[in-house]
Order: sequence, then C-alpha cells, then structure tokens
Amino acid sequence: MNNNTQESKIQLEYINKCTELVKEKYEKAPAFFIQNAGCQMNSLQTDTVAGIVKRMGYTEVSREEDADVVIYNTCTVRENANLKIYGHLGHLKSIKKKNPELKIILFGCMMQEPEVIEKIHKEYSFVDLVFGTHNFHKFPELFYRSLNTEGQIIDVWKESDEIVEGMPSDRKYSFKTGVNIMFGCNNFCSYCIVQYVRGREKSREPEAIIEEIKGLVADGVTEVMLLGQNVNSYGKDFGDKDAFAKLLRRVDIIPGVERIHYMTSHPRDMSEEVIKAVAECEHICENFHLPFQAGSSEILRRMNRGYTKEKYLELVKMVRKYVPDATITTDIIVGFPGETEEDFEETLDVVRQVGFTSAYTFIYSKRSGTPAAKMESQVPLAVKKERLNRLMALQNENSLKCHEKLVGQTVEVLAEGPSKQKTVWNGRTRTGVLVLWPIEDKQYAVGQKVNVQIEAAQTWLVKGKAVD
Ligand code: SAH
Ligand code: SF4
Ligand code: F3S
Repeated sequence: MNNNTQESKIQLEYINKCTELVKEKYEKAPAFFIQNAGCQMNSLQTDTVAGIVKRMGYTEVSREEDADVVIYNTCTVRENANLKIYGHLGHLKSIKKKNPELKIILFGCMMQEPEVIEKIHKEYSFVDLVFGTHNFHKFPELFYRSLNTEGQIIDVWKESDEIVEGMPSDRKYSFKTGVNIMFGCNNFCSYCIVQYVRGREKSREPEAIIEEIKGLVADGVTEVMLLGQNVNSYGKDFGDKDAFAKLLRRVDIIPGVERIHYMTSHPRDMSEEVIKAVAECEHICENFHLPFQAGSSEILRRMNRGYTKEKYLELVKMVRKYVPDATITTDIIVGFPGETEEDFEETLDVVRQVGFTSAYTFIYSKRSGTPAAKMESQVPLAVKKERLNRLMALQNENSLKCHEKLVGQTVEVLAEGPSKQKTVWNGRTRTGVLVLWPIEDKQYAVGQKVNVQIEAAQTWLVKGKAVD
C-alpha cells in the first residue's frame, strides 16, 4: 500500500469516528452551512468537505443562523476576497454569542498567508478550526479533533506531496462535475498569489484520474471538467511533456463520457498536440479558455507570462486552423502597474482581433507578497475602473456578435434545470453558451440532451425552442 492509499484509509476511518461522535452528541441530525469562494478547484474541495460532513450525519442548511457548523472555503487571489471573509466573521461572532456551541471552520487559500493566521489567532479567537491547502486531505482528522476540543485549532502546512484519493463528494449537478488532475502552480506570474498559497505543481496519476471518472460515470456523470491551474503542464513532474494530450485521449474513450472540458490553459504551454487532440476526439468540447491577461508585450513581460502579443495571436490562429468552430474565452487584467493608455489599447486590440465569446475581466489587485505589488507606478483606481468599463463594453459587443451567429442553428444542449419561476429550462451548449427555452408541457431530466433551435441572442445567453 503506498502512502497516499494509507492516508486515505486513515481519513476514511476518521469519518467513521466522527459519525459515531455525532450520533452520541446530537439527538437529531445536526446542520452545516458551507460557502465557497474562488475558482473551480476551490469549489471542488468545498464539494468534498460537504460530502464528508454529510457522510458524518450533518444536513445542509442555507442560513448560518440555523447551523451547528459553519464552514468557509476561502480565496485570496484578490484583496476584496480577504475583506469579505473578515466581514463575514464579524457577523458570525454575533451568531456565536447566541449559540456558543456553533463550530466555525475556515480553510483554503487565504489561510496559507501568515498575516491572516496571525489576525485570526489574535482577533477572531472564536473561530474553532483553521487549516490550509496543503493539509486539506486531513480534514476528517482535524474535524474529529475539533469536535473533542473547546479551544481554537490552527493547523497550516507550508507544503505537502500528499494527494488523497477516494473521499466522498457532494456534487451540485448530478450529471456534471470537475475532476482535479493536478494541484499547485509552477508559474510565477508576477501579480499572482496562487503559487504561494497552493505550492508547486503535483499531478495526479493518470490511472487514478481515469478510475475516478469511471466511478463518476457509473454514478450518472456524463460531463467532466479536468481542472488544474495550468493543465498544459500536467505530467511534467513525472517527465512526460505530452501527458495532458495523452490524458485527454484516454478520457475521450471512457464509455459514457459525453463532454470533456478542461481549465485552465496557459497560452505559453498550450501545445499543438493538445489542439490536435481536441480536433480529433469526439467528446472533447470545442472551447479554448486561453487567458491572455494583457495585450501589450511589455506588460506581458513584466507579468512574467512567457509570451508576447504576437505569439498569443499565432496560437489563436493555430486553434482556428484545427478547430474552426471553436469558441475562445479568456481572462484579462486591467491596470497592471505601469500600464499606459497605449498598453491598454493593445489589450482592446487583442479583444477586437480574437472576438472572444466571453471574458472574465479583472481590475488589477495588489497582492502583498507578489513581485508586482512592489512595482512602481501603480495605476490609480479611477483609471483602472474607467478602463474596465471600456473593456467590458467592447467585450459585451463581441459576446452578442458570437451569440447572434447561433441564431437559426439547432444546438445540442444538456438540460441543467428549470428557472426559478419555472417558465424556462436552462442548459449549456458544448461550447458553454447558456441556452433558455420555454418549459411548455415537456418534462426533461437534468442532464438530458435536448436539441434547441436558437431564435434570439443576448449578451449573456441565447433563447430558442426545443425541436425534439
Ligand atoms: N491559473 C489560471 C487562473 C488563475 S486565477 C491562469 O493562469 O489563467 C484566475 C484569474 O484571476 C487569472 O487568470 C487572472 O486574470 C486573475 N488574477 C490573478 N491575480 C490577480 C490579481 N492580483 N489582480 C487581478 N486579477 C488577478
Ligand atoms: Fe497564477 Fe499564473 Fe499560476 Fe495562473 S499560471 S495560477 S495566473 S501564477
Ligand atoms: Fe483563489 Fe485559491 Fe483558486 S487563491 S483563485 S481559490 S487557487
């Protein structure tokens, strides 16, 4: 038995121990509240924690006031993510005054920052359990300790090689889910805190990933999103530079897998092999999420992104050559230190040239601990906001244009569920576009394939009618 399997066994035993303890402690099933912040990788870990506490006998509630345990998974990529958590803690303090038995748990990226831990220890002593990203796999054990302790437990590691397999998970959708293929990041983008809080890249064994997906398919999943901070360098840590393309091809032939997505690709590491795999494999969806961050090659150099504007545009050309109908989406930061009006115009130029279907746009946030935070000529907030508005206006026009191209076409949609008012169904195309169609008399199962003829386009979605 290797170390990881042994550790998984230990943690599964702790889940059982907690289940026993919970039965003794509460007459009726206790309740938990959980909230996620941050990226899809965080969200997957939130699902795992929710799955674990459900297995222990807790039921989920939607208000902190009704919970016996409140759990926050935190993000620290932007400054305001941290401020939000401190705001929440103020609110939780008043709830805990009324219910001293309440357990408060914080974990995730923000907890890897020493200043945060110091502050929680000093100013928020009513928080019961704090752990980080590197000992995430120890959650059942830590929870057990916390159930047996009155005081605050803080356990944050600087690093770890441990990847624990086989934990329960509580999926939001029955038919689709993310699957981690790697953890951490080896890129030192100068603005980004992720590599400091998530550590070095660690890839999961391909066999473990394939087995997990087979298990998910047996449980009703047809759509998977392979997740990592830089999926294109998957497997480099075990010496195979084409490991990601190979993995995609292996996932493609798992019986029952209908749609495969992956996130995030780094434009510098995106290879022709991966693009070919997307072109040739039936189930890999025709969407390329390629964050370009900034259009000016000088800003890209200072961001330490490892490509120029020209290289990025060449990559887009290669994608279009192999997969002409692919949608391309991106992430963009405005107001990086030293960004001039001319630099920003280069960003707008890339947006115009590529015609992204959608883009996540961010105002540069100064993260202490990163090299960019120390750079001179930080851009004033008013300038950053004004640039963001111009960028968003341009991108909204592009999104609408991309969606208008779908009008008249019949697209394959996987039904995600009815709207709140039960007037329309919503679902997504293979390329991730949100589609709404009237409920009328027909019943669909969540995850069912529906052919929808598109009749109207908006900035964020398209509308149509079911044709089968
Ligand atoms: N690993 C992924 C995503 C990381 S975080 C990638 O490299 O693409 C998601 C996005 O947050 C990034 O793409 C970037 O656009 C944004 N981001 C990261 N740090 C930021 C900061 N300090 N300020 C503003 N946006 C930031
Ligand atoms: Fe951050 Fe860059 Fe790594 Fe993405 S690739 S997580 S932006 S350091
Ligand atoms: Fe945030 Fe951590 Fe993801 S900092 S973006 S939750 S890796």
